[in-house]
Amino acid sequence: MSDKDKPVIDEYSGVETTGHDWDGIQELNNPLPRWWLWSFYACILWAIVYWIFMPSWPLVQDYTRGALGYSQRTVVTNQLAALAEARADLGKKLLANEPEKIVHDKGLLEFAYAAGKTAFADNCAGCHGSGAGGAKGYPNLNDDDWLWGGSLEAIETSIRFGIRATHEETRFSDMPAFGVDELLEKEEISTLVTYLQGLSGQPITEPEVLEAGKLLFADNCASCHGDDAKGNREQGAPNLTDAIWLFGKDKKTIYETVHTGREGMMPAWDGRLDPVTIRALAVFIHTRGGGE
Ligand code: HEC
Ligand code: HEC
Repeated sequence: MSDKDKPVIDEYSGVETTGHDWDGIQELNNPLPRWWLWSFYACILWAIVYWIFMPSWPLVQDYTRGALGYSQRTVVTNQLAALAEARADLGKKLLANEPEKIVHDKGLLEFAYAAGKTAFADNCAGCHGSGAGGAKGYPNLNDDDWLWGGSLEAIETSIRFGIRATHEETRFSDMPAFGVDELLEKEEISTLVTYLQGLSGQPITEPEVLEAGKLLFADNCASCHGDDAKGNREQGAPNLTDAIWLFGKDKKTIYETVHTGREGMMPAWDGRLDPVTIRALAVFIHTRGGGE
């Protein structure tokens, strides 16, 4: 054995060096710590066990599936199937129950509200607004003011069959075009506009025409809007005495409504959405809004 091959002992620690030398700094050849070594062996063992039981190695077209046959895809598929089953049960319950019962069954109500909320965002928000607050010509569904009725049944009917829609059972009525069809003179329409503004508590400039307006209203409008102008849900005729306006309360807009008529169109959802979704939507709106 030449001098060169003889192990070199570090003079300070007494430990053999590896013989590697960087600018005079020598590497000690300490043994690996025990805890480290055993952890390392344990890891190797764990990896082997894992390969045997779990999917691990990629192959050209496939991968090794492991003895347990575990797959996250299967897990998700099973979870979805279980969820669909649970929902189907709740859906059946939702359709079978009387409206009053749904409102008092917390679990059912929560299910319907959540389903209705999603369906609303997908199908209704475009017209009624994402918060169901409405816009000109599109009613606010959160308030107590209903054109066609705010009971769960009435709301469901509005959704199922629509309003002035193509469904044969659709809700239907007319706000006549009094000016265009020459049923009233311009002068008379203006008088009615002032009368309605006064009736709904707006400031008016010509109080002298109120009496004439009242007569014109009784003759031409009361049949639909009611003698007291508080509206008629059979006809979807709005209450004209409150501060809530579907199309607008200013002089010009009311004039336009009476002159040209209005026909707000709400599509029918029967056949486009399943009955469970329609009921869920009705519950959602009934719960949010001033449901009756
Ligand atoms: C294309 C636009 C449009 C879409 C989409 C739409 N609506 Fe409507 N909706 C209307 C209009 C317009 C009216 C008011 C009709 C009228 O003037 O009588 C209305 C009225 C209603 C009413 C009656 C309100 C009342 O005061 O009686 C309900 C309830 C309603 N919509 C719910 C829904 C739901 C739920 C959806 C989604 C499934 C939906 N709407 C989708 C336009 C729409
Ligand atoms: C045949 C029934 C009918 C008659 C008659 C009728 N209305 Fe209407 N009116 C309606 C309906 C229905 C609506 C709602 C239209 C819609 O939602 O598209 C309406 C809406 C209105 C609105 C809009 C209210 C709002 O919130 O924006 C005003 C204003 C109005 N009518 C005034 C009158 C006046 C004034 C007369 C009489 C000259 C009259 N109506 C006669 C059925 C009628």
